[in-house]
Amino acid sequence: MEARLQEAKDSIRDVIDFPKEGIVFKDITTMLKDEKHLATLVETLYEQYKDKGITKVVGLESRGFILGTVLAYKLNAGFVPIRKPGKLPAATYSEKYTLEYGEDEIHIHQDALTEDDVVLLHDDLLATGGTAAASIKLLAKCGVNKAFVNFLVELDFLKGRDKLNTEFKVDSLFHF
Ligand code: PRP
Ligand code: MG
Repeated sequence: MEARLQEAKDSIRDVIDFPKEGIVFKDITTMLKDEKHLATLVETLYEQYKDKGITKVVGLESRGFILGTVLAYKLNAGFVPIRKPGKLPAATYSEKYTLEYGEDEIHIHQDALTEDDVVLLHDDLLATGGTAAASIKLLAKCGVNKAFVNFLVELDFLKGRDKLNTEFKVDSLFHF
């Protein structure tokens, strides 16, 4: 890995026992607060996706919004949010997904995307894959045929990638 990317990766902080005992939380705020690392992330992802014809970046609430909008701007694409229940005001498509305890649901506006869009779906983290799998199903409901899926961090040991069940290309910048 390129040195400046390795430095950015090394700046991600492990927080032990958050949000509950036994979990080691990968805290990206220590990376994002450094202007050098932020520039490295944006430039690297821009280079990776600039020639893909992306028309919309879809970001997942809430940590997917942080770089999602920056990437949309850099790629000269629009930005579309996927949000938690009760937040989007117009007609939505929704998908339920399972968490470790219980269920959650995410929504997208029905008119946010068309079948002509080339989408970059972005989130900060691929963990168990529940959130991302539901998001990919939402893209299908919107008629999207062509998409790329990107995460800043993938926790390989949780095997979330296996749950995505998609033909879209999935890439993560950093693996743990
Ligand atoms: C976290 C993270 C991803 C998701 C990954 O979001 O930002 O979106 O969990 O987990 P999974 O692969 O097991 O589904 P969270 O729901 O904690 O909300 P936040 O982004 O608003 O902090
Ligand atoms: Mg999230």
